[in-house]
Amino acid sequence: MKLLQFLAPVASVFVQDTLAQYATAAMMRFQCSQLSIERLDPLVNPGMLPSTHMHQIVGGNSFNATMTPVEYDPSTQSTCTTCSFAEDFSNYWTANLYFHAKNGSYKRVPQMVNLGLTGQGGITVYYIPPYDGKTKVTAFKPGFRMLVGDAMLRSNRGMQRQICHRCEHNIQQSPFGGAPCTGDDTVTFPNKMCPGGIRTTITFPTCWDGKNVDSPDHKSHVAYPSSGTFESTGPCPASHPVRLPQLMYEVMWDTRQFNDKAIWPDMGQPFVYSMGDGTGYGQHGDYVFGWKGDALQRALDARCSGDRCSQLKTQTPEQALACFKKQTVKEETEGWVSELPGGMQVTYQ
Ligand SMILES: *[C@@H]1O[C@H](CO)[C@@H](O)[C@H](O)[C@H]1NC(C)=O
Ligand SMILES: *[C@@H]1O[C@H](CO)[C@@H](O)[C@H](O)[C@H]1NC(C)=O
Repeated sequence: MKLLQFLAPVASVFVQDTLAQYATAAMMRFQCSQLSIERLDPLVNPGMLPSTHMHQIVGGNSFNATMTPVEYDPSTQSTCTTCSFAEDFSNYWTANLYFHAKNGSYKRVPQMVNLGLTGQGGITVYYIPPYDGKTKVTAFKPGFRMLVGDAMLRSNRGMQRQICHRCEHNIQQSPFGGAPCTGDDTVTFPNKMCPGGIRTTITFPTCWDGKNVDSPDHKSHVAYPSSGTFESTGPCPASHPVRLPQLMYEVMWDTRQFNDKAIWPDMGQPFVYSMGDGTGYGQHGDYVFGWKGDALQRALDARCSGDRCSQLKTQTPEQALACFKKQTVKEETEGWVSELPGGMQVTYQ
């Protein structure tokens, strides 16, 4: 049963591909539970206390307002991680989702744990090598970080590839949705009530310039392959020749407690991101690499799949949940509030 539960969602990603590709497909897919919910952003607003908008953060507990590349190494600064792979002290973070009720109040939408995984809230993290089963990928280097998407975006102008929302018809994606950004997936928030919650996928570029662990916009040191969308063997541009594993986040928003027309605003869909985005175009993801030593490279070379890997140490969900970080800036994250944290003004579709 356990194996089936795990295989099914992996199979779904490749539903449009040939069976042969599926046979060799391997992707690391694992749970990283909640580390903290707070207004910190060491990438975009380093040192700023608090940063502009609220985030939900998972991974190593050395997450801090300032994390200078290379100098501040999460794999040595952290004493624990919320991820199921015990050597992964990286930090992964996204915006928070809020429900905006008819009476004007907001409430944070909790996350649920993805199918086949155990933990609490947080993010499902994927590291996906090209699914030809042989193309080599290079693990991120110490100090590496990147950003995908744009928190300021409220229309499709300047939109990045592969950031989508899916309206789940049933709880736990049954019968397992297909690849990200296929089928009925939308870049914007679904414009209807979703009985099984809303899944958002955030997919990062897979080509690196081979030199810089960061860049001023946290984006220019990486690029998309010149062809192909979801992870493929499409060639990397000459400017960014080094092939990275495809990092992908899945966040499962549990909207079920808000699925009540009586509290929905008359104007349309009621969900907004913490940066005041009621469109969905502003969805973005942040990454600071923090795997210990060469653990990630070993796992990629071994084509590890799922959340068990012969090359890696795993920890129990209880151990992962014992790891948390107290809010640096005290702020209400649960319950009804009269405005978004930081007073962010909302733009709707
Ligand atoms: C985190 O940042 C605070 C200042 O904001 C600093 O005092 C503290 O030492 C930092 N923690 C680590 C582990 O560097
Ligand atoms: C707004 O509506 C929600 C949902 O019905 C309710 O729980 C909350 O107390 C209301 N807030 C105010 C300020 O009336």
